[in-house]
Amino acid sequence: MKSNDSLYSTLIDKKLVPVIKITDPNSSENLADALITGGLSVAEVTFRTDCAAEAISRMKNSRPGMFVGAGTVLTTSQVDEAVAAGADFIVSPGFDADVVRHCQKVGVAVVPGCVTPSEIMAAISLGLSTVKFFPAAAFGGAATIKALSAPFPGISFIPTGGIDMRNLREYTSLPCVLAVGGSFMATEKLISAKAWDEIAARTRSALAAVCSIASV
Ligand code: 3PG
Repeated sequence: MKSNDSLYSTLIDKKLVPVIKITDPNSSENLADALITGGLSVAEVTFRTDCAAEAISRMKNSRPGMFVGAGTVLTTSQVDEAVAAGADFIVSPGFDADVVRHCQKVGVAVVPGCVTPSEIMAAISLGLSTVKFFPAAAFGGAATIKALSAPFPGISFIPTGGIDMRNLREYTSLPCVLAVGGSFMATEKLISAKAWDEIAARTRSALAAVCSIASV
């Protein structure tokens, strides 16, 4: 497991987290290479398929420098499975105090989903300062995040859900947005089609869009 500081530096620097749903673990190494070719050394592999843990393990083994997180983590036993596979961070769609506390106990970074002031306050009470905002578009998008950042100036958001090249900049231009997550760089369809060049190209385009904001 890599250090949380270097994870957050990478997120701040690149501002993008590809959200991956993988069904064929044999694609893990090629997928990791495609993302790295596109300029990103981070990925969130969702526990929505049976091979998520194997995919995390294979990505980490083939590309040890990569930050590979586990997404859609709902239970403490999934935290254990993800950590055993080598996951560098844990992402939950919602806020569950048991999951957060368990991650803290085993020493893995955790980013729970919070979309209301009460959920954010619950995260703060457990010492967190970064939360996922999911599903971002359905919960009012960048406008809601901006409104939430007023009472919670110390909180950073990772919006995910309904984000793609068309609305990416709305989110990344907000100072309170640490990074955005999304499947648009490596969709399930592209992964199944083994379209590694296209995944690398989409990753590169997304990075270029984010960098052009940063340099304004
Ligand atoms: C997630 O698990 O974070 C989301 O399902 C990703 O959402 P997207 O497919 O709309 O990017």
